Amino acid sequence: MKALVLIGGFGTRLRPVTYSVPKQLIPIAGKPMLYHVLDELPPGVDEAVLATGYKADEIGRYVTEHPPKIPVRMVAEVEPLGTGGGMRNAGGDMSDPFLLLNSDVIAGFDSAALLARQAERGGVGTMTLVEVEDPSPYGVAELDGDDRILRFVEKPRREEAPSRWINAGLSIWKREVLGRIPDRVPVSWEQEVVPTLLPGRVYAYRATGFWEDAGTPERLLRAQRYLFEAGRGGRRAIPGGTTGKGPVAVDPSASVDGATFGGSVTISAHVVVGAGAYLEDSVILDRANIEPGASVLHSIVGPRARVRAGHRVSHEVLGEAAEA
Ligand code: GTP
Repeated sequence: MKALVLIGGFGTRLRPVTYSVPKQLIPIAGKPMLYHVLDELPPGVDEAVLATGYKADEIGRYVTEHPPKIPVRMVAEVEPLGTGGGMRNAGGDMSDPFLLLNSDVIAGFDSAALLARQAERGGVGTMTLVEVEDPSPYGVAELDGDDRILRFVEKPRREEAPSRWINAGLSIWKREVLGRIPDRVPVSWEQEVVPTLLPGRVYAYRATGFWEDAGTPERLLRAQRYLFEAGRGGRRAIPGGTTGKGPVAVDPSASVDGATFGGSVTISAHVVVGAGAYLEDSVILDRANIEPGASVLHSIVGPRARVRAGHRVSHEVLGEAAEA
């Protein structure tokens, strides 16, 4: 089976860091978000096709230099085609059925159960749904007693949502659905195509367990905490020469002597952290410099950014080469 991974979005909610780093390459718990997604593909998936657009070259370079466990093939859009257009553009030789994934979803549920549900029930597809407190920012499903999806409402007002079960960004489809997407024009899969597929029977797989759309700073850091707790992160112990507590993932090329950790931190390649600096619940990208005595809490620090000596950064996103 092949997986089609949507990876072409602009990541606007993670700006300014996504002006230079595509969202899927932001490291969380020691490896890029995309690799957490690829490493958790269910058994039986033997190739992932990446539908890229924004910063396709950067992603291509990274994937070539750091081959994922599963073979990948990239198909880039010249103009952004939206989720549906991206699927049509990249889905030329998909398997029947194929798996469809958003590249920014970090989850703890059993995707093999989704495949089993599709095989059992048939229909044109099965979508993983998760239950959330407030469904209003998402695509919300109305279901019948057999878990068949009757209707999808995108971003409804909270009081008008038909349920609290939302599209989790992981689904399985018969290949024929790709032919239902107009070619070479921007199309939203969720809003324009999925509603037309419902008469052909689309079922829900109601998943429980951790789920996060890691597309905002707060949710990205929550996903990182989960990955560390679930043992899916890098090293848990703090490195020698530092104090405090893990879990942390520190690239071996980083220099962190004399730093103190407060848990749940990723430090990327060639980062320099000065003595007496404090880091907690944060992601620090390549070659950033956290000067002596500075603190970074609940933040994302972009590549080559600098946090000045003694300065405190809390709940911030710093772009490439920013100074704080
Ligand atoms: P925001 O701008 O912060 O909303 O992030 P985003 O651009 O990633 O959008 P969103 O999280 O809604 O996208 C869901 C998934 O679809 C992500 O995996 C995106 O990378 C992907 N995606 C969004 N737009 C496109 C597109 O035009 N083409 C392709 N190939 N993928 C897309």
